[in-house]
Amino acid sequence: MTSTVNTAGLSPDELPEYPMARDARCPFDPPPDLQATREQGPLTTVRLWDGSTPWLVTRYEQQRRLLADPRVSADPMRPGYPSPAPVDGSSKLSFILMDDPEHARQRRMVAAPFTIKRTEALRPAVQQIVDDRIDEMLAGPKPVDLVQEFALPVPSLVICELLGVPYSDHEFFQANSNIMINRDSTVEQRAEAKGQLSGYLHDLLQHKMADPGQDLLSGLTARIDSGELSREDAAQMGVLLLIAGHETTANMIALGTLALLQHPEQLTALRETDDPALVSSAVEELLRYLHITHSGRRRVAAEDIDFDGTLIRAGDGLIMPNDIGNRDPDVFDDPDRLDIRRNPRNHVAFGFGNHQCLGQPLARLELQVVYGTLYKRIPELRLATDLDSIPFKHDGSVYGVYELPVTW
Ligand code: HEM
Repeated sequence: MTSTVNTAGLSPDELPEYPMARDARCPFDPPPDLQATREQGPLTTVRLWDGSTPWLVTRYEQQRRLLADPRVSADPMRPGYPSPAPVDGSSKLSFILMDDPEHARQRRMVAAPFTIKRTEALRPAVQQIVDDRIDEMLAGPKPVDLVQEFALPVPSLVICELLGVPYSDHEFFQANSNIMINRDSTVEQRAEAKGQLSGYLHDLLQHKMADPGQDLLSGLTARIDSGELSREDAAQMGVLLLIAGHETTANMIALGTLALLQHPEQLTALRETDDPALVSSAVEELLRYLHITHSGRRRVAAEDIDFDGTLIRAGDGLIMPNDIGNRDPDVFDDPDRLDIRRNPRNHVAFGFGNHQCLGQPLARLELQVVYGTLYKRIPELRLATDLDSIPFKHDGSVYGVYELPVTW
């Protein structure tokens, strides 16, 4: 027997609005009201900015099942998709917002450089980038903003090298990607920023068609030549990889550092270890604990789904807030405690299912090098301001800090 009644039994106006607010005193924890939805069972409903009432999937196990379900679509153009902000219907999408088989076809075209083996080969180059940035910080004046001087440059330099994008354009692409992932940007601002980045990638691809190199974008030009890929799709892939490749990791570096500074015993353990397994465990735990992609995985049911007796109808929106999935007490012992020794490789910070993060081996490698180096080389690293004065990114689809003033 299936039921279509939301588990809270409330009218749309009475439903809680999603996203919910964090508690300013616990900047690393998901919103308390969101954590509390777990008590309502694995499925409940919320209200979005546009008055729509998608399902909220509150438990880890059910989130993973739905994210892996082929009847669930990632296409924001389908009616019922729970969009975080107004959508520009004319805009071309990248494969993160496509369904299989086209999603899988495009993903395969860029997957090779992101395998564990290929990314591991980049470790010495990433170590060099990290060491160079630390040398520059140590040689310059104090205090510094760790975001501008370190957290943003490191992943930006790495992804630029991999894609074949000139790092000298970083101010341009960082500013536009910031507008694209800011929830408060208007449709027009987002479309303008996306247009700027798409145009930039178009030009770069054009240039590489005439003069190819060894980089990922040059590899895509061969696929354009062979007719496998349109220029437009190639440009959208470039935009996706450029944004995903630097924004997320940058926020993990800065917010991860802040979390460690607020947990000095954990920071000391990490600083004093020479064990790569403990560094890797710390990376997994900070990914789980901070869960920076805090806007929830957004999907829409493409068919009716009988989900453990509840009917999810075709066209129903679904939000999987993986941040509370990562704090599910049935899966993680004492989940609100940061413990760098627990090695929670089963976390869902990289999502789950066919859209699971393509760049995760690269993100892991960068974070292992950063967390394994920064605090050793600057053992006196500390905040140069109060926690209360740090501007958190409550308005972005990726959580983090806008600035992190530090000294030593
Ligand atoms: C700590 C850093 C990172 C985090 C937390 C993260 C998180 C995520 C998450 C949660 C998804 C799933 C989105 C969904 O299901 O809707 C995703 C997808 C993706 N990520 Fe990452 N990511 C990180 C770093 C990177 C890096 C370095 C790259 C490199 C380019 C990257 C490229 C991608 C791509 C291409 C997708 C789309 C995959 C698909 O749709 O098949 N990410 N990421």
